[in-house]
Amino acid sequence: MEKTFLMVKPDGVQRGLIGEVVSRFEKKGFKLAAAKLMVIPEELAKKHYGEHAERPFFGELVDFITSGPVFAMIWEGEDVVKTARHMMGATKPSEAALGTIRGDLGLTVGKNIIHGSDSLESAEREINLFFEDSSAINYEKTSDAWVY
Ligand code: PPS
Repeated sequence: MEKTFLMVKPDGVQRGLIGEVVSRFEKKGFKLAAAKLMVIPEELAKKHYGEHAERPFFGELVDFITSGPVFAMIWEGEDVVKTARHMMGATKPSEAALGTIRGDLGLTVGKNIIHGSDSLESAEREINLFFEDSSAINYEKTSDAWVY
């Protein structure tokens, strides 16, 4: 089953939005496979956002993502990478549609509540970076045959 990496960023954790974010993905029908509250070490943050290393906001991005706890997760389901990105909304909250996480709850492009992998390749890379101990759990959700 397809997997993606999602993370409630420090602003989302500080604002008490972990439950809201998790709830949206649970209600959608996706399956939570792993989750942990953690403070990201600087080295991991630089690897995670490595593709943005040359961008002017890179330092700010690393400072912010390491500034406090994040809630890192693996979610599973059909087309979960693409669907999660739709549910997150555009990077800039001012451009994110209402009904999306960032459209409803986000404030600024940096402090935009949630990170989600943008492709299958990124998902695999990010899951390996954050859950290198393979702590994802395999289990069946039996309550409804039509959800994952
Ligand atoms: S995306 O989704 O990768 O296409 O978005 P992108 O615009 O390339 O931004 C990549 C990540 O950088 C964050 N970002 C910023 N942080 C701080 N300051 C500024 N100005 C800024 N611009 C973009 C943005 O929230 C993206 O973070 P993630 O965690 O990948 O969503």
